[in-house]
Amino acid sequence: MRGAKSSAGEKRCQRSTTTDIASAIITGSCRVFRLLQFPHQFTMASGSSIFPRNFKKDYSVAVRGEGCWIISSDGRRFLDAAGQAAVVNIGHGVAEIGRAMAEQSSQIAFAHTSQFRSDPAEKLAARLLQLAPSNFRNGGRVYFTSGGSEATETAIKLARQFHLESGQPQRYGVISRRQSYHGSTLGAMTVSGNVARRAPYEPLLAEWGHVSECFAFHHAGNLTGEEYGLACANDLDKFLRGPLGSSSAAFIFEPVVGATLGAAVPTDGYVARIAEICHENKILLIADEIMSGMGRTAKPFAIQHWNVEPDMILVGKGIASGYAPLGAVMVSARIVEAFERGSGIFQHGFTYQAHPVCTAAGNAVLDYLEAHKLFERVASISKTLFGDLEPLRSHPNVGDIRGMGLLIGIEFVREKASREPFPPSQNIAERIRQAAIEENVLTYPTQGCVDGLRGDHILLAPPFILKNEESTLIAKAINFALAKVFPS
Ligand SMILES: Cc1ncc(COP(=O)(O)O)c(C=O)c1O
Repeated sequence: MRGAKSSAGEKRCQRSTTTDIASAIITGSCRVFRLLQFPHQFTMASGSSIFPRNFKKDYSVAVRGEGCWIISSDGRRFLDAAGQAAVVNIGHGVAEIGRAMAEQSSQIAFAHTSQFRSDPAEKLAARLLQLAPSNFRNGGRVYFTSGGSEATETAIKLARQFHLESGQPQRYGVISRRQSYHGSTLGAMTVSGNVARRAPYEPLLAEWGHVSECFAFHHAGNLTGEEYGLACANDLDKFLRGPLGSSSAAFIFEPVVGATLGAAVPTDGYVARIAEICHENKILLIADEIMSGMGRTAKPFAIQHWNVEPDMILVGKGIASGYAPLGAVMVSARIVEAFERGSGIFQHGFTYQAHPVCTAAGNAVLDYLEAHKLFERVASISKTLFGDLEPLRSHPNVGDIRGMGLLIGIEFVREKASREPFPPSQNIAERIRQAAIEENVLTYPTQGCVDGLRGDHILLAPPFILKNEESTLIAKAINFALAKVFPS
């Protein structure tokens, strides 16, 4: 059980003021950073003025999108099996979204939220609250941002200020889980556990506490799913009894872990016990549904699979299906009340929050989802895709195929029985991605699911409009990639 190792892990994570330990942390993170540098095959094409994500990679130019397909400037068609990064829920090239944005822009493109409200933002907020658990529906509010990381930053500050408004000024820390990702800005990175993404920035990050993730495939050992889930949840309880417990303000987690663990679903009892612990210890529960929300797991929000009412739900990615940069913090009624009763002012803000054109895109996407019954479609097309992937399970290097709805992870192992991962230097996930592209299928590869460094998986998160024949093509391309990367 991974939770049993938590106190050592927590100690590792704890920040110290002594120079020796600070430099050890910096040296350690530099070592991890170096370990994560692998040779790449490509060199960036010259002639670009964009500062890229990776200077050693060649990027095609995307010129058009049609349904589940992206067409590049050289005419190649790619099947978008990852919805880019679990973003494109309704598919590419839906003309009415662009029309709704143009219409809004011709009326009023921007009005600063310090002076005005706007109809599209009001409308979208009310609609989102209606999709949420009942503690949001009466008296909840929505804080719109321009993406997921801003939503996480906002939630961290909301949690802190909630406790100030409630007469608990000692509470500020947001506890999170190892092996998690909540965004790339420094606050969001502070609560993230993703080793690779944190490594270069460790010296810049605060430490409010990371507790056990819930990842049964590698860490349950001989425990039943429920025993393991409870043990993981109780790691939070143990943390809260420790020295940082009384200064903790909230706990943040991904109900279904996206990129970092490749669609890992918590075992029975975990989510309910986490909610109970937060409630007993008077800290807020934040569900990061930036990847898992907006219907991707076949419910509007993944946490609804466990009938739990969090205090905040973070949304991003699919909320505007990639047509506009948009994110949101859904805030439950009791937090709203604390602000209303208290200072009335949230000390926070972004120039582009609640942008009229972006929220118009959000409304148009929601209209499309409802008109085409796409929330409902996720469950049925998910069955088709899992069914098409099922034969891959017997491949000696496929360790697991997991997930919920259209958030699916495939993990590759060196040895099936022991679930032993490949050495990171073999770069398996990226090689699978490259091989699948030879079959014109786009996937989302990540390393580190086992312990931050080892473990290879790809994520599949196609648009909800995926057709049966496209599902077949995805499975065929992964089969091809397996044969190429693991020749017998
Ligand atoms: C669970 C989760 N939280 C937060 C983020 C950050 O969102 P963004 O990249 O829109 O800032 C992501 C992005 O991948 C995510 O998957």
